[in-house]
Amino acid sequence: MKVFEISVLLTLLAIGNVYAQQDTYTAAVLEYSPILSGISPTDNILKNSRAYVNYMINAKRQGVEIIVFPEDGLTGWDIGIENFDHVSTEVPDPSEKISPCIRTQHGNYSKFFVDLSCGARDQRIYAVVNLIESSYTHDKKKIYYNTNVAFDRTGAVIARYRKINLYDEPDHTVGDKSQVSTFETDFGVKFGTFICFDILFKYPAVNMLSDPTVTDIAYSVAWFSELPFFHSLSVQHGFAKSHGVNLLVAGMNNPAERNGGSGIYLHDGRIAETYLSGYRSSRLIIRQVPKIRARKDLSNTCQASSDTPRYTLEDVNFFRTKESDLSLYTFKSVDLNKKELSDTVCSKGNNFCCSFNISIDKARDIRPNYAYKLTAFFGVTKVSLTKTIGLRNCGLIACLNESESSCGGRHTQPLIGVTFKSISVRGNFDTKDFHGQPATLNFDMNPSTDYMYCTKTANDEQEISLSTTRPHNSLLTFGIVGRAFNHDDSAVRVISKANVNDVSIYLVLCISIFVYLVQNE
Ligand SMILES: *[C@@H]1O[C@H](CO)[C@@H](O)[C@H](O)[C@H]1NC(C)=O
Ligand SMILES: *[C@@H]1O[C@H](CO)[C@@H](O)[C@H](O)[C@H]1NC(C)=O
Ligand SMILES: *[C@@H]1O[C@H](CO)[C@@H](O)[C@H](O)[C@H]1NC(C)=O
Repeated sequence: MKVFEISVLLTLLAIGNVYAQQDTYTAAVLEYSPILSGISPTDNILKNSRAYVNYMINAKRQGVEIIVFPEDGLTGWDIGIENFDHVSTEVPDPSEKISPCIRTQHGNYSKFFVDLSCGARDQRIYAVVNLIESSYTHDKKKIYYNTNVAFDRTGAVIARYRKINLYDEPDHTVGDKSQVSTFETDFGVKFGTFICFDILFKYPAVNMLSDPTVTDIAYSVAWFSELPFFHSLSVQHGFAKSHGVNLLVAGMNNPAERNGGSGIYLHDGRIAETYLSGYRSSRLIIRQVPKIRARKDLSNTCQASSDTPRYTLEDVNFFRTKESDLSLYTFKSVDLNKKELSDTVCSKGNNFCCSFNISIDKARDIRPNYAYKLTAFFGVTKVSLTKTIGLRNCGLIACLNESESSCGGRHTQPLIGVTFKSISVRGNFDTKDFHGQPATLNFDMNPSTDYMYCTKTANDEQEISLSTTRPHNSLLTFGIVGRAFNHDDSAVRVISKANVNDVSIYLVLCISIFVYLVQNE
C-alpha cells in the first residue's frame, strides 16, 4: 500500500514537472450568452453554473489547464439589487486555501458557488469565474462586490479580485485600490486577474504589471464597444501588445447591447484567436499559449507581429457599436485623391501633436463610401454616467461622410475604392502616470496585426509610433490610445496649455503674490 501511495505521489510529481517543463500551456476562454429565461434569478444562475461545469468538462477533454469565464455570465448584466441575495455568495479569503466543494459549511456559500468549485475539482482544472460576492462591513452592513474568483485543481479559492473600476454599477462596492490579485499555477505560469473597465486604469492593470513575473492575465469582461478607439477587441489587442503579456479574454455576449468579443492574445502582439458575433451565441476558444519567463521591458523597442490569426466573425453588421463623443477632438480631413500625405494635427489649446505619413491608392472611377480624418486629442472625456478619464489620442479614423460627428460610424459595407498602401502615426507623450497602446480596427471588427509598433523613451518622454507592414483596405481606426491617469475624474475638457503645467502656474502665482507683498511693504 505504502509503495503504491509513494509511486502515485511520484507519478503526480512527475506529471507536475512535465506540465511545468513544457513551453506552452493550453488555455480556454468562453464567450458566453447567459441563460436568462428561467423561472427565477436563482433558477437562471443554477442553469448558467451547470453550463459552466459542462464547459469545464468539455475543456478538460481537450487538454485545457485553465479556463476563463466572462463578467456577468452567471447573472446577466442588469440583474437588480433586489435579486442580489439570491445570486450572490460569500467567497473565502484566498490565503485560507479553502475549497468550497469540500468545506461547504465554512462560510455562507451558495449552491452555484459550491458547484463551480466542485467542477474545477472534478476536472482538475484551473478556473476563473466572475460573480457577485456578498460581504459585510465592519458595522455588519451587507455589501456586494463584482468579484473574480480563481479556483485551483482542488477547487480551492486561490485568488479573489474585487473590481475597482465599476462601470455604472451603483449597487456594488468599489474594491480596494491596493489589492494585487495574482495566482501561481502548477504549470509554472503566474497570472493576474481583473475585470472589464479595469483594463483602462492604473489600478489594477498597470500596477499589477509592475511585477515582471506576472506574465499572463485572466480577464473577464462585459464590454460596451465604442468607436473609433474603444472597440472590445481593439482594446484587448492593444493592451497585450503594449504590455507584452499573454491576455486570456472571456467576454459576455449580448451583441444588440454592444457586448461581445473574446480572444487569446499573445505577448509578442500575435493574436492566437478572437471571436465576435452579431447574434447571441456562446463559443469556447482553446489555444496553446507560449510560456514567458519574464516580461520584457518594452519602453525602447520595435515589434512587428505579422501572422495569420484565427478569426471567427459572424454577421458583424449586427454587432452594435456606438460612436464616442468626439466634439472636443481636433480633426483634419484626408484628401483621398492625394497619393502621399504628410501632416501634423495638434489638439486644440495645447502642445500635444500627432504626425502622420500616409500613402494612398484610390481607384479612379469609384467614389469611396467613407471619409477619413486625422485626429488628435489631449483632454478629459466622459466614459460612463459617472466616470471621466484623461486621454491623449492620435488616429486615422473612418467617418461616414465629411461631417466630424459621423466619425466612428459604420456603414453596412466595407470601404470601397481606396487602399492605404502605408500609414505611419506618431505621438510624443509625457510618461508620468501614463500608458499608451495601439488602437487598430478593421471593418470586420478585428484589430490589425500588420504593423510595426515602436517606443522610444527618454527624459520622461515617450515617442510611440505605428507603421503598417502591408496595405490596408478596410480600416476603421489606426492610431494610439494614451491614458493620462493623473487627469482621471476631473471635468470634461480639452486640457489647455495652462493645465499641462499646473505646477508652474502655482509657481508664477506664488511669485506674483510675493512680489505684490514686497512692493506693498
Ligand atoms: C446565508 O445566506 C442566506 C441567503 O442569502 C441568508 O438567508 C442567511 O441569513 C445567511 N446566513 C448567515 C449565517 O449569514
Ligand atoms: C514622415 O516622413 C518624414 C520624411 O521621410 C519623416 O521625417 C517623418 O519622421 C515621418 N513621420 C512619421 C509619423 O512617420
Ligand atoms: C453624414 O452622415 C450622417 C449619418 O449618416 C447624416 O446624418 C448627415 O446628414 C451626413 N452629413 C452630410 C454632410 O452628408
